Amino acid sequence: MDSIQIQGGVPLQGKVRIQGSKNAALPVLAATLLAGGSSFIRNCPRITDVFAMISLLKNIGCRVSWQGEGLYVDASRVDCREIGTEAATGMRSSLCLLGALVGRCGSAVMEHPGGCVIGKRPIDLHLGALRQMGVEFREEEGRLLASADRLNGAEIRLPFPSVGATENVILAAVLARGDTVLEGAALEPEIAALCRYLKGCGAGIEGIGTGRLLIRGGRELSGAEFTVPADRIVAGTYLFGCIGTGGSVLLEDAPWEEMKSALELAEHMGGKICISREGVYVQAPDRPRAVECIRTETYPGFPTDLQSVALAAAVRADGDVMIRETIFENRFRVVEELRRMGARIEVREPDTVLIHGVDSIRGVPVEARELRGGAALVVAGLMARGETTVTGCRYIYRGYENICRDFRELGARITGA
Ligand code: UD1
Repeated sequence: MDSIQIQGGVPLQGKVRIQGSKNAALPVLAATLLAGGSSFIRNCPRITDVFAMISLLKNIGCRVSWQGEGLYVDASRVDCREIGTEAATGMRSSLCLLGALVGRCGSAVMEHPGGCVIGKRPIDLHLGALRQMGVEFREEEGRLLASADRLNGAEIRLPFPSVGATENVILAAVLARGDTVLEGAALEPEIAALCRYLKGCGAGIEGIGTGRLLIRGGRELSGAEFTVPADRIVAGTYLFGCIGTGGSVLLEDAPWEEMKSALELAEHMGGKICISREGVYVQAPDRPRAVECIRTETYPGFPTDLQSVALAAAVRADGDVMIRETIFENRFRVVEELRRMGARIEVREPDTVLIHGVDSIRGVPVEARELRGGAALVVAGLMARGETTVTGCRYIYRGYENICRDFRELGARITGA
């Protein structure tokens, strides 16, 4: 089903359990290739990006099956041939198979990675870093051919802490000959999750959680069990859903330590936050308080992946809110749709919007064009008076297991897949 119907205007109330993290699960699944044995990945989210990654792994010979709440991956036999074209297009995270495949097979052939249309999304940092490790690249008919006679450890400095490039270097480095020092590594918690899984497989990685990683290459790895952490972006989506609708919710098992910037913003918007063993409890004011400026940054700053849902919540603020997007260009595509719902938003610069908060917005048919923007439209639908229909929901299912079920748990009147 590609559309979601919402009867909005009801404050969210209740509790919801937070699913496993997409951005942690995907690189870990790519890393199972390096383990060369069987891994069991618990709390793996059942989302379409994971299904696509499973197809990619199967295409290259892995045996993958769901067993209870986990995913079993047997990578003992991998035939290092081309990754299937259909599964690789439309998902940027297939890019992290690049480092894993080069590590395991010494070569990789990939479609140019797809993903959400939120900017140019170049891959120069990935290619530059892997080149330093001895990987050569060619482009042929839109495909990327990577090969390395020998993969060597290297001293690499990333000019920008790209999440994906950091993951690719780690993946390539664990089986490379010699040590790799990676300076300027991304600090996002999903990097630490990947390192923990690889360490469980026997890899030597030091400096986890810092911008300087030391990866001791060449160790033989075995499979491991791993539990995917809760998704901080999904938890943040429901957090701002609560703030936007003026509700009170418990986000069960939400990874609050990874959500500090989001929780801080929710507090500035008037939310009362209480952290307990059960999770994060949020009580929102009737109307979100205006805040001066929300600025997206790399971790631990406010995540770009929550910018659209925070924007949706801010539409009902009791004053003006400025939002500045510093990570991706073209990440304000949701603005046009929100305006049709009655939001007052000015695009000041390509990377800056100014929201003049309004008392209420109204439900209209809207269309999702990318994952997080789609989730923001659902949040806006929950805030709006009347009925909202969100189409293009296939983007939302890339990252949310069942956004309708989750919001229903919180008392929303919402139907769809
Ligand atoms: C990952 C996340 C995504 C999140 C983003 C930033 C996954 C599957 N996706 O994406 O949800 O929004 O981190 O937290 O984990 N860049 C370059 N050259 C490169 C690589 C990146 O210029 O070679 C630029 C990008 O265009 C973008 C910025 O760096 O402007 C951030 O990208 P990056 O950190 O690499 O994000 P992703 O790994 O693509």
